[in-house]
Amino acid sequence: MANQQLMEKIVSLCKRRGFVFPGSEIYGGLAGTYDYGPLGVVLKENVERLWLQMFRDSRDDMYGVDAAILMNPKVWEASGHVAGFSDPLVECNNCKGRFRSDHVPVKYEKDENGKIVNENKVCPSCGKEGTLGEVRQFNMMFKTHAGATEDESATVYLRPETAGGIFANFKNVVDSLHPKLPFGIAQIGKAFRNEIAPRDFVFRLRELEQMEVEYFVKPDTWEQAFEEWRKAMHLFAEAVGIPSSALHELEVPAEERAHYSKRTIDFEFEYPFGRKELWGLAYRTDFDLSAHEKGSGTPLSYLDEETKEKFIPHVIEPSLGVDRTILAILTSSYREDDMGGEVRSYLALAPKIAPVKAMVSPLLKNKPELVAKAQEVRKELQKIHPAIAWDDNGNIGKRYRRQDEIGTPFCVTIDFDTLGETPNLTDTVTLRHRDSGEQERLTVAEVATRIRSSIS
Ligand code: GAP
Repeated sequence: MANQQLMEKIVSLCKRRGFVFPGSEIYGGLAGTYDYGPLGVVLKENVERLWLQMFRDSRDDMYGVDAAILMNPKVWEASGHVAGFSDPLVECNNCKGRFRSDHVPVKYEKDENGKIVNENKVCPSCGKEGTLGEVRQFNMMFKTHAGATEDESATVYLRPETAGGIFANFKNVVDSLHPKLPFGIAQIGKAFRNEIAPRDFVFRLRELEQMEVEYFVKPDTWEQAFEEWRKAMHLFAEAVGIPSSALHELEVPAEERAHYSKRTIDFEFEYPFGRKELWGLAYRTDFDLSAHEKGSGTPLSYLDEETKEKFIPHVIEPSLGVDRTILAILTSSYREDDMGGEVRSYLALAPKIAPVKAMVSPLLKNKPELVAKAQEVRKELQKIHPAIAWDDNGNIGKRYRRQDEIGTPFCVTIDFDTLGETPNLTDTVTLRHRDSGEQERLTVAEVATRIRSSIS
């Protein structure tokens, strides 16, 4: 399938089935914003819960925080974001469009030997050459005002990364929980970036969500911690169903790294629109804690109780965008095949993150005895997981297709055999598997075991 076509199919499925809607759609939208719908919000929660489980809750060395989005603006002065969190901007003198200069196409003029003699930037909007002005740095932080005054002294920023709230709480966590190094602080939350050109669905947003860890280590152990988190990120990719064949590591060269980083690996994914960044893993040295110690005047060093050594810990940061993770999951799981002579589309979601774990259905909705039995079976299965859906609309084939499209791994059908029409099948149901479409006859207890083991 052509990549452009695949992207269109994913965007359309997301809207049609309630995963992701354009933000403020009834007012014509707002660029760089999307809203998660009823199924999308559950998918997102399942991904975040899995991340919390793997990155925080299953480890004794990890702690959580949920910091405020609005912070004292000095945080962003100290972190370097006020001075340096910018993208290169150019404006077209002809159409007045504004673009990131590193995203603008270039047209080369060559001499008869093929040697480049001139290069001209082309305006991506009006297509004119040589109309783009000087490059200037555009700060991507959203500014607003706290309180009733709107002058400069009341300026606050919407955080551009969740990391700031973690560094600002380093001392609070140390003083309240007394963790021993190495330890980390994890946080999930919104971040805001005034991207010059938001694009590619939920890939480049102005309001995004991040799952970040700041892992504090003794300076000479950073490489070991870097490798551990690198492995953890691959394990997480596998757990959410992002195939390793579509994931690539890029060692970011020094000149392209963020101002705080001494080593960064970008985890890139093969999106339908090209290979681009999915997540980042950075060695932030002691840059942030040192900068915040200087900026706030509050000592942020750590005292090693055993050696009595006092130092500023260094930091390893695995940073995962939630929205890009969702896009990578949808891209990886979207499938089309031929079933019963018809084209079928389905999401091969890992059962752990699928918004609906199973759908229960009476074969006929106008037979009260079938409906009652099916409701009983649903209640039984909901003891394993609450996300067991009900569907009695249309014929059974259509119900299966609807569930396939939203990635429900199992469908359970109750028919007259369940009620005893064929004596040796009494109390058995049909379990239908999403990916193969295969069906088998099992007891409700056996179905329960299948569902439980698929999500445990
Ligand atoms: N604290 C480090 C940090 O924020 P980053 O590489 O700028 O580093 C981390 O962002 C992750 O956040 C990215 O790898 C990506 O998953 C996500 N992300 C960044 N900008 C984004 C945007 N405009 N829209 C959606 N996700 C974004």
